[in-house]
Amino acid sequence: MERFELAEALVRKAGAALRQARLEADAVSCKTGHQDLVTVWDRRTEQFLRQGILSEFPSDAIVGEEYPTVSTAAPEAVWYIDPIDGTTNFINQHRNYAVSVGCWQGDEPLFGLVLDVEADRLYHARAGQGAWCGKTPLAASRRKNISELLLFTPDVLRTFLQPGPGRQDLLRLAQDVRAVRSIGSVALELCAVACGEADLCVATRSCPWDHNAARIILQEAGGAIASLNGAPLPLNEPGTVLAAGSPEALALVLNEYGME
Ligand code: IPD
Ligand code: CA
Ligand code: CA
Repeated sequence: MERFELAEALVRKAGAALRQARLEADAVSCKTGHQDLVTVWDRRTEQFLRQGILSEFPSDAIVGEEYPTVSTAAPEAVWYIDPIDGTTNFINQHRNYAVSVGCWQGDEPLFGLVLDVEADRLYHARAGQGAWCGKTPLAASRRKNISELLLFTPDVLRTFLQPGPGRQDLLRLAQDVRAVRSIGSVALELCAVACGEADLCVATRSCPWDHNAARIILQEAGGAIASLNGAPLPLNEPGTVLAAGSPEALALVLNEYGME
């Protein structure tokens, strides 16, 4: 089996298990605080994905949210996995959460898969072959007038309200766009830009497992992504994220509202 086929089978199986999952109160615990949660299902799902990948591709490396990175000296490929992106939604809503799996060879993207679990919508892209939701091709938004753009952010508090570099510019951007929305899952928010439901996505902190699958889908849909200072988004470090429906819209927002 090729990596993509394996990934699709694992993600679909993980999604089916999560749809059946029922959470006991003791299945939830805090990591760094009451706004940073993990459940037994996050860990269980990551273990399932890791075992499935390594049993077929033992020379690959895995960067996942819940367990330390498994690395070999010169991995053939690196997988970035978020077993549940949107854990708070999983706990409180049992919807609006995703399983996210991206695969890279060095700096080159291979493919990305993001499953909106409860909607059973699989966003997927292989490098150079376009982006899809199921069998429907995706095209990101072509809008370029700031006042017409719909801005998504995974965390309203952190993006606009907490003090930090560039917050005044982001607040100005929020006031200039058509409206601001939040799903609460970086991967689903980037896929919303990929399919044109959103025009922009801003995150002031995002980790490699949050965005390294969806960024492939977004770029294959014609969208563009960078750090908020305009630098390329690093593959292996947390950072800020600005995603747009097109390179032109990205440049426009960076010029007017980007960080120095
Ligand atoms: C989080 C979600 C959330 C975003 C956080 C992420 P998790 O991922 O994507 O919307 O604001 O930065 O860490 O913890 O649910 O996997
Ligand atoms: Ca996440
Ligand atoms: Ca997670």
